[in-house]
Amino acid sequence: MEKLIEDIGLLSGNESEVTEPFKVSADENTGKTRKLYIESYGCQMNFSDSEIVASILQKEGFDTTSRIEDADLVFLNTCSIREKAEKTVRDRLHHIRGFKKKKPEMIVGVLGCMAERLKTQLLEEEKIVDLVAGPDAYRDLPTLIARVDDGDKAVNTFLSREETYGDVTPVRLNSNGVTAFISIMRGCDNMCSFCVVPFTRGRERSRDPKSIIAEAKDLFEKGFREVTLLGQNVDSYKWSEAENNKARLEKNQIEEVITFAHLLEMVALVNLDLRVRFSTSHPKDITDEVLRTIARHENICNYIHLPAQSGNSRILELMNRGYTREWYLQRVDKIREILGEECGISSDMITGFCSETEEEHKDTLTLMNIVKYDYAYMFFYSERPGTLAAKKLADDISPDVKSRRLAEIIKKQRELSYERNLLYVGKVFKVLIEGNSKRSDDDLQGRNTANKVIIFPKENKSKGEYVNVLVESCTGGTLIGRIV
Ligand code: SAH
Ligand code: SF4
Ligand code: F3S
Repeated sequence: MEKLIEDIGLLSGNESEVTEPFKVSADENTGKTRKLYIESYGCQMNFSDSEIVASILQKEGFDTTSRIEDADLVFLNTCSIREKAEKTVRDRLHHIRGFKKKKPEMIVGVLGCMAERLKTQLLEEEKIVDLVAGPDAYRDLPTLIARVDDGDKAVNTFLSREETYGDVTPVRLNSNGVTAFISIMRGCDNMCSFCVVPFTRGRERSRDPKSIIAEAKDLFEKGFREVTLLGQNVDSYKWSEAENNKARLEKNQIEEVITFAHLLEMVALVNLDLRVRFSTSHPKDITDEVLRTIARHENICNYIHLPAQSGNSRILELMNRGYTREWYLQRVDKIREILGEECGISSDMITGFCSETEEEHKDTLTLMNIVKYDYAYMFFYSERPGTLAAKKLADDISPDVKSRRLAEIIKKQRELSYERNLLYVGKVFKVLIEGNSKRSDDDLQGRNTANKVIIFPKENKSKGEYVNVLVESCTGGTLIGRIV
C-alpha cells in the first residue's frame, strides 16, 4: 500500500510534498578538509533545514558529498510523522553500519524530528549513532561534532521559542537553480490529535520578514525564478517588531503587524518574474485577504494545498482540526469565487482514524467528489506515541480496513486528477521551465500557475525561462503540449 501512496504522489506530479524516499546532498568541492553527507526525509521543512545545516557546517570547513564512502560526517535528517518514516531511518542506519565498519572515524548523526522525539534513547537503541541534534539545535552542531571528535557521544534536543535561523543563508542542495524553498516560520501551535509535529518542532514562531525578503532577492539575483514559502500553518504567520524585538519597541517604533497576506505581497513585489508559492494553508485559518492577495498578483501562484484530513465533522472534531465539513466546503467555495475554477487545490487525507465508521469514510469520498482535488496525499492513520489521540482514543480500525479505505480514496483521487487535467486541455498557460523532462532530453518540463506539470518539446528554450504552452493532451499525472 505504501508503494501505492508513492505512486499517487508521482502521478500527481506535485512537488509540494515528498514523493521520493529521500534526498541526498550534492557534491560540492571548495577545497575544504572534511566532507558532509546528508540525507533528508519527511517534509519540505526538513529539506530546507538540511540546507541550513550545510550552511552552518560549510563555515566549519565541511564540503558536501553525494557518496557516503567519501564522507567524514554522515547525517540523516529524519521524520517521525508515521511509524513507517521512522522504520525507514532505522533500516538506513543499519545499512550505514557497513560503511562505518570500513571507516571507523566516520561520525554518524541523527537530526530532525526523530532525534527530537527519541533524544538519548536513540544512542541506546542504535549503537552506530554518535550525535543526536533536534531541529532547533543546529547552531550547536560544531560544538557537538567537536565533542564526538574528542571521543564522546553528543546530544542536543533543546527546543527554542525564538530560533528561526533567519540570518543563516542556506546552501542550496539538489537545486535545479530555478525553484527554492524559504522557511518563513517554525514549529506548530495547533494540536491536531494525530500529529507528532508540535512535539518534535516545538512552539510556533515567525521569521523576521526582512530576512525573508532578503533571501528572496538573493535567490532572484542568482537566477532562481520561483520560491515556496514554508510553514506548518502559513496562515498564522505573524510578525511585529514589538513582539519579536523588544529593543526596538523601546525606541518607540510604529507598531505594525505583518500577516501572511502582507508577507505574500512583499515577496511578490521582489520581482514580477519571481513566482511565489506557499505551503501549508490551514482550512481553519486561511483568510479572504490571502485569497484576494493571490488574485491581485499575477506572480503569486493559483494553487492552494488545503489539507482536509477527513470529510466527516465528527472525525474532524476527534482530530481536533478546528473546522467542520461545512466550514471546509465554504472555504473551497470562497477559493473558487475569488480565484476561479482553474485554481489548483490539493489535500492530505487520513483514512481509518480512531473509530471512523464506513459512513464516515464515505463522507471523505463525497467531500473529494465535491472539491475535485487536483492532487492528494493519502495515508492510513499511524498512531504516534505521546499525541492526544494516542493518549485518549483507541486505534481501533484494523490494518485491513485502513488499507481498503485507503485504496478507495486513492482510486477516487486518480479519477479526479484525470478529470481535473482534462479541464486544462486546449488552453494556453505561462510555464516556468524547470529543466529537462524526466522521460526525454528532447522535452522540457515546467509548471503552470496551478502547479500542473506540463511537458513539451524543447525548441531552443532552457530552464529558468517563461514560455507560453498550449496543452494538447494529458494523462492522470501530466499535461502534454507545445510552445506557442
Ligand atoms: N501542517 C500540515 C501537515 C503536516 S504533516 C497540516 O496541518 O496540514 C503532513 C500530513 O501527514 C498531514 O497533513 C497528515 O495528513 C499526515 N499525517 C500526520 N500525522 C499522521 C499520522 N499520525 N498518521 C497518518 N498520517 C499523518
Ligand atoms: Fe500537525 Fe496539525 Fe500542526 Fe499540521 S497543523 S503540523 S497536522 S498539528
Ligand atoms: Fe516534517 Fe516529518 Fe518532522 S513531516 S516536521 S519531518 S515529523
